[in-house]
Amino acid sequence: MSENVQSTEIRYEADRPAAENPIKIMDLSFRDGHQSLFATRGRTEDMIPVAEMMDEIGFWAVETWGGATFDTMHRFLNEDPWERLRTLKRYIKKTPFAMLLRAQNLVGYRNYADDLAAAFVDRAAENGIDVFRTFDALNDYRNFETVVKQIKKSGKHFQGCICYSLTEPRLGGEVYNLEYYVNKAKDLESMGADSICIKDMAGLIAPYDAFSMIKALKEAVSAPIHLHSHSTSGMSPMSHLKAIEAGVDIIDTCMTPYAYRTSHAAVEPLVMALIGTNRDTGFDIKKLAEINEVLEKEVMPKYKHLLDDSKVSVIDINVLLHQTPGGMLSNLVNQLREMDALDKIDDVYKELPRVRQELGQVPLVTPTSQIVGVQTVNNVLYDTEDERYKMITGQVKDLCYGLYGKTAVPIDPELQKKALKDYPRGEEPITCRPAEILEPELDKAKAEIGDLAKDMDDLITYAKFPVTGKKFLEWKYGVTSPPPEVMPLTMDKVKEADELVAKAKAGELVEKKPETPEKTDRLRTFNVFVDNEYFNVEVDPTGEMPAMVGAPAARPAAPAAAAPAAAAPSAAAAAPAAADVDGTALVAPMPGMIISYAVAVGDTVNQGDTICVLEAMKMENALAAPCSGEIKELSFSSGDSVPKDAVLAVIG
Ligand code: CO
Repeated sequence: MSENVQSTEIRYEADRPAAENPIKIMDLSFRDGHQSLFATRGRTEDMIPVAEMMDEIGFWAVETWGGATFDTMHRFLNEDPWERLRTLKRYIKKTPFAMLLRAQNLVGYRNYADDLAAAFVDRAAENGIDVFRTFDALNDYRNFETVVKQIKKSGKHFQGCICYSLTEPRLGGEVYNLEYYVNKAKDLESMGADSICIKDMAGLIAPYDAFSMIKALKEAVSAPIHLHSHSTSGMSPMSHLKAIEAGVDIIDTCMTPYAYRTSHAAVEPLVMALIGTNRDTGFDIKKLAEINEVLEKEVMPKYKHLLDDSKVSVIDINVLLHQTPGGMLSNLVNQLREMDALDKIDDVYKELPRVRQELGQVPLVTPTSQIVGVQTVNNVLYDTEDERYKMITGQVKDLCYGLYGKTAVPIDPELQKKALKDYPRGEEPITCRPAEILEPELDKAKAEIGDLAKDMDDLITYAKFPVTGKKFLEWKYGVTSPPPEVMPLTMDKVKEADELVAKAKAGELVEKKPETPEKTDRLRTFNVFVDNEYFNVEVDPTGEMPAMVGAPAARPAAPAAAAPAAAAPSAAAAAPAAADVDGTALVAPMPGMIISYAVAVGDTVNQGDTICVLEAMKMENALAAPCSGEIKELSFSSGDSVPKDAVLAVIG
């Protein structure tokens, strides 16, 4: 490092002497930052107050879209994801926009057909994306082919990612060794990558591994090298510095309020650490401080309740021990908690590496982290002593079939055979590029959604998320009104709540009976049966707290007749009201959302036939008939959220 700059010339402001080779910085606050810390609940209106100031810093790019934003926005925030891009572009005019693209998975959890993939990239580019950070969970670059062709056609920057994964405590071993990464980088360069990113989603890269990795990549390829590392394990600031010493070109950081924990290192300490060196960012640290001031005062109060404050530590050493991304860990914990099985967490940690190995030693990143994680929990909860993999999710079957691509090592043949028994596409796995066997999707989606989709953006929203996307389009065009829980939290509400807490702490809160509130038009009536007693309960939802990550989609209260069991969770007595129908009940083994029923009332079914598909933790579970007989009752419809043990169907 050069230290030949006169100390009198080193200033906080940007007019200090320029570095020979300044490190470039991408800011992730508006995507990965709030995705990592606040369950992706960041709203566009809370980005606008600092948007113009962010544009003045000199970031290489700002990440504004992709990952989980598309899903969360339309599902939980009642925001049109496409609109966010157009809005932010009005404030951020100079700095390029980046998005995280899950290659052929786009911003979803499965491989989509080529027509949908090309249309998605085309529309993302048109709406404002300049840099497409593209990754595939299996590092199978055949899944890049369609989107890369479109990124190039749209004249945009193709950043190819290598998902950083380990099987050993440090870089090395038989699968994910230095040679693996160098070969992947060469593959990306030959595909025309404008830059290459090491995507360390779990914060696993150790400082000296980062050094040797960057050195090796800089020698092997000529495209700029970008390091994306989460601070979950606490190593990332050290890894950043070693990567910078090894010549990395671009680093990802967040503004301080969006930094650390499972997010990324903050930009400000890095700027200070490099000031006056030959890798000086050239950023004006006072301007960064001004942005922080606005975020702290005007924005963060609305999100602080979403911060995971269950632990004092900001570092998760479980990540070092289990090598799982932070988001995956919190999902596992949530999932176990929802099933009242949190005491099984150690069994889950033990089972996880085994499931991962049997599923082909896949990197753990969306969606494979979900696939491996949910299957592991299923194994721990439902397997018996003489049978493993008793409940295999639809996504594990797809993975075994080859629908996600080629795994790093072959999938366990015995598991593969079991998963593919009666698999609808066939019992023999494919070896071709997965999308090759997928039928075009757009025309079919258009026929289904009809005029509710007014343009291509709407159509893509629906095609990617048929159940929640349709619900969103109905809100957007006033067919139904959005429920209160998707409404934004205002600073006034935050102040009210804070004042109450302060009073309570000071012992000033006098207990008084609250006044009976006025009934609103959101009031719903529920018939509740407890044993043979009958109650008529009126429920008026008041919440504006967004549902936490991984929780089933919050849904508008359903008409009482259609879904008695899904009555607002506060009406705990609203137990499954199937008491008056004789027969055997199919109950939900876990909380989730009904995707579809495979049968209708009156159908005859055999034991083991699929009755319905339940989405839990974004994985689909086909639930089988517990006995043979006639379907007497189906209690829910597509899109309904159900609690654990809800009666989904009655077979008589
Ligand atoms: Co990330």
